[in-house]
Amino acid sequence: MVAGSQTVALILGGTSGLGLELARESERNDVKPMLLGRSKSLEFTGDSHVYVDLADKHRVYALCQYIEESYIIPYAKYFFWNAAMFERASITDMCDPKKVIEVNVVSPTKIIESLIRRKKSLNLPVHIVAVSSTSSWRARADEAVYCGTKAYQSQFMRSLGLELMRDLPGSKVTIVHPSGMKTNLFNGMKTDTSKFMDPAGVAKIIWSEVLKQDLAIDEFNVDCVNSEPVLVRESRIPLA
Ligand SMILES: NC(=O)c1ccc[n+]([C@@H]2O[C@H](COP(=O)([O-])OP(=O)(O)OC[C@H]3O[C@@H](n4cnc5c(N)ncnc54)[C@H](OP(=O)(O)O)[C@@H]3O)[C@@H](O)[C@H]2O)c1
Repeated sequence: MVAGSQTVALILGGTSGLGLELARESERNDVKPMLLGRSKSLEFTGDSHVYVDLADKHRVYALCQYIEESYIIPYAKYFFWNAAMFERASITDMCDPKKVIEVNVVSPTKIIESLIRRKKSLNLPVHIVAVSSTSSWRARADEAVYCGTKAYQSQFMRSLGLELMRDLPGSKVTIVHPSGMKTNLFNGMKTDTSKFMDPAGVAKIIWSEVLKQDLAIDEFNVDCVNSEPVLVRESRIPLA
């Protein structure tokens, strides 16, 4: 149950890694986290978790229906687009490139469309935080599909931010590009994550920047410096 004037953060993919840390940090900032995700959460249960498998279009449709009807949405000031899947292989060796595009691009786009439709009907602004990646601007062999989905995410959000400024004043967009983090993203792959960042520190930086954001559209990097997360504000250009 959401109490009185409590603010809610919807976290798409809050069940592990950075998303789970964003949920924990949300609580520390007195914002009730609500996980939209696939795995069961032992920490966030009951009405703090709504099931969705982003690879299943029926489940995505059900979540969109929920967003268009739920009493929670007026309280949902924040929406974190954090969920993603990753597969490292050449384009001809990937198990299921279409699934990566479905999970990272198609389903989140549909869910955000529903959220904005509902917010427009309520005439309430929304703050969307997109966890993109350095992969959105840095070219990496054997990661073409993942990098492509991250480039979509960043550019979609930059453009959507302009629409929201015009159509739903008071709305905000934040685009974050973290460097490598120690999470489940690389499970099953030969990636040495020992020098990567702890996602808890990255979540702290993201929430801190989100809470003090004045601009309608903000974008920053969280770089890994000696395994520690550091906020960096410098635009990066695509490198071949
Ligand atoms: N790790 C890094 O080095 C790194 C670097 C830059 C950017 N990022 C970005 O950070 C974000 C968080 O990733 P992470 O590193 O924290 O990895 P993670 O621990 O694997 O978290 C990914 C999240 O996405 C969810 N997800 C994946 N497939 C899903 C599906 N079919 N339906 C519903 N939810 C699904 C996962 O849910 P389940 O728990 O059910 O699997 C999990 O909550 C991603 O957007 C990623 O691209 C990561």
